[in-house]
Amino acid sequence: MQFPLRYAASSLLLLFVAHRVSAQDGGAIYKRSCAPCHEAGVDRAPSHEALHAMSPERVLAAMESGPMISMANRQSEAARRAIAEYITGKSFAHPMDTAPPAAAMCAAPAPDFGDPLSSGATLWNGWGQNLLNTRFQTTAQAGLNAADVSRLKVKWSFGFPATLDANAHPAIANGRVFIGSTSGIVYSLDAATGCIRWYFNAVGGVRSAISICLEPEDIAILPDSTKAFVSCSGSGQVASVDLKNDKLLALLDVGKGPVSLALKPDGGEIVAFNFDAGSISIVETTPNEVLGSYLVGAKPTRGVFSLDNSRLYISNFESNNIAVYDIDLGKVVAFLPVGTRPDALALTQSQQYLLVVDTGSSDLAVIQKRTPKKKFEPSEYSLLTIIPVGVQPNQIAVKSFLATKPRDGR
Ligand code: HEC
Repeated sequence: MQFPLRYAASSLLLLFVAHRVSAQDGGAIYKRSCAPCHEAGVDRAPSHEALHAMSPERVLAAMESGPMISMANRQSEAARRAIAEYITGKSFAHPMDTAPPAAAMCAAPAPDFGDPLSSGATLWNGWGQNLLNTRFQTTAQAGLNAADVSRLKVKWSFGFPATLDANAHPAIANGRVFIGSTSGIVYSLDAATGCIRWYFNAVGGVRSAISICLEPEDIAILPDSTKAFVSCSGSGQVASVDLKNDKLLALLDVGKGPVSLALKPDGGEIVAFNFDAGSISIVETTPNEVLGSYLVGAKPTRGVFSLDNSRLYISNFESNNIAVYDIDLGKVVAFLPVGTRPDALALTQSQQYLLVVDTGSSDLAVIQKRTPKKKFEPSEYSLLTIIPVGVQPNQIAVKSFLATKPRDGR
């Protein structure tokens, strides 16, 4: 089967929740978490002056490995350091360094990261292992059974720098462990040896499991820039991301192979085109909910909304037609035959012409729309012309211009 190249690309996107840490206000945290004892003459608690006379290293050590562990273990490393600098009025001799030493990095080059769903390798994606959150791994996937558990030995361990706790769940895919840390570093580790393949600094502490958005294909951002939606075609999901707080809001199950997204002009709904399921899924943007999935034809690839939010035109790559979905009626009202392998499509500014790029027959189908008297009339659409273009076209842009009368008055 002929297949647009962009649907064959394989990659992954890691989605996780990061809690933004702004520049830490040591004074404010000290007043909240320490002052109730240290400024109130609690028995044996060193006074303000006594703490002020200490080195920041000593105050930090009290919080990290001394008697104050339980008072400060909910704080980030940056916050603990800010408290120590505030109360002592001195700076640390050594700034915080969280970069892993060279010896921690994997020496051998990384093998290709293929599709974790079809590779057969052990997979634990996100918190629940699967979409039902059963948190259950089969014997085959685990590679061991209950009797083996008592014979397990520690193979490697990994220390998170600049943090006292580790509470994010690891995600495992294709021989890699993906894990975030409270100090905000996200790591990709080699599952066999624990060496670091790569790491990056997220905006803040990561406390949740990392979900792998398999084969991200398309992204749609709400007009007010508050949310982004990413179609994860490999896992049949749409991820909703809060752009203000860098938070993963939801991983919504849509149909198989959502290859593209279209945003309704009013911003209220987003549609995922599920290539492998032959369906579209309509997602309400607030709250993040899948309203429903509807069969529309074979291998739908893309769609475009009419400006008045009433109609959605869907190109069915394999059934060689355009499905006209009426939003109010909630169903497909017409199938318009076009050339072969229709893909990209656009409406002219007047909304009178629908332009469809046929990647198979290498032409452009022009469909005319008349204004119906009732809600829908079969004669509403007619195929006006088919214009040959170059080989395998796959995108379209519409330029509008104003036709003026020629000067000689003809
Ligand atoms: C519930 C009361 C309480 C709170 C809250 C508290 N402390 Fe303390 N702190 C104590 C007491 C009591 C001691 C003396 C402990 C001992 O002698 O074993 C102490 C001792 C210390 C010491 C001296 C340790 C040493 O090396 O001798 C430091 C430094 C310190 N606290 C810092 C802090 C900081 C920073 C905070 C806030 C994050 C904090 N404490 C919150 C009660 C408190």
